[in-house]
Amino acid sequence: MAAGRGTGGRVHYIWPYQYGPRMITTGQKIAIQRTTKSRLPETDLDQIKFGRTFSDHMVVMDYRDGAWQAPTIVPFGDLRMSPATLVLHYSQTIFEGLKAYKGEGGQVNLFRPQANIARMNRSTHRMCMPHIPEDVFLEALVELVRLDKDWIPQGEEAAMYIRPFMFASDEYIGVRPSESYRFMIFTCPVRGYYKEAVRVKIETEYSRAFPGGTGTAKCGGNYAGALYPAKLGQDKGFHQLVWTDAKEHRFIEESGTMNIFFHLGDKLVTPALSGTILDGITRDSIIEMARAEGITVEERPITVAEIVAGLRNATLHEAFGTGTAATIAHIQTIALGEEVFDLPALTDSSHSVHLGRKLDEIRRGAVADTRGWLVNVA
Ligand code: COI
Repeated sequence: MAAGRGTGGRVHYIWPYQYGPRMITTGQKIAIQRTTKSRLPETDLDQIKFGRTFSDHMVVMDYRDGAWQAPTIVPFGDLRMSPATLVLHYSQTIFEGLKAYKGEGGQVNLFRPQANIARMNRSTHRMCMPHIPEDVFLEALVELVRLDKDWIPQGEEAAMYIRPFMFASDEYIGVRPSESYRFMIFTCPVRGYYKEAVRVKIETEYSRAFPGGTGTAKCGGNYAGALYPAKLGQDKGFHQLVWTDAKEHRFIEESGTMNIFFHLGDKLVTPALSGTILDGITRDSIIEMARAEGITVEERPITVAEIVAGLRNATLHEAFGTGTAATIAHIQTIALGEEVFDLPALTDSSHSVHLGRKLDEIRRGAVADTRGWLVNVA
């Protein structure tokens, strides 16, 4: 690897890295270049804002000449790249989000990393990017989290948020899939994502995704395209939009960057994975846990009309978003046009409250992980 240039605590790397054309072999030890100056002593883990504090190290792995090169772990630092780097122009980039938790006894667990790895590879497929070898991905992830485990905060909603991502790195501005890529993972100590129950507005003009599009892939462009309508909603006092189908705006899809659930009548309902919705891992976990408790869960098309009827006739008991960053975000207010509805106050037995609590206990190792969701790292 090309040497990093130290710049007062941060490190800038020469772009691109110079690797020999080595192929990965399973179980190969990952080369680690440790930071000489950890930023942890000067970081107050009690005062962190989501996504603004980064742990000491990161994983870097390049793809070129048709093969993945050996991954390395290096100090967290800036990238240097040509202004002509393909991702900067056509957004051929994907990412994931997962978390590691520290339990009472100090044990560190990753939550369902294999599911994120599988989903990232589904995104690679949709975005014409090379498949990432699952074993190499997991090994690099485990090594990174183990190395920076002291960065994981403890306490309610505290975790290490992990951001694997990959981008097109060709120095080329023709429109075609890149021939070279960079895969990276960095981590952030985090606490809660939302400080309060969220206010959402049902979006009936703009769309996040459409049939045949990239809605189910975790690609940067999906998020960029959502910024403008989300900003219009925020200007009106809403935290998030509830996305509806692009054709008729008749069916509910997602809420902001989260999947959405409603406790409607005596059922928990959530939109079916239709190809325009992200296949959320928290979504899947909540469905499985709810069913195991005997709650009827329906994954099906949900109309805006039935949600509004449920708000009007008080059969909509609760609504919540699920996602890795937020885990469970309680929805307090839903607006459609000029009509604004408040949901009933939550109680200890609300589905989102008790399922959220159970999920948290599993992730922190406080109750038995009977589903094999945890990967113990330290
Ligand atoms: C996540 O929940 O991990 C997400 O991807 C949301 C993120 C954009 C903060």
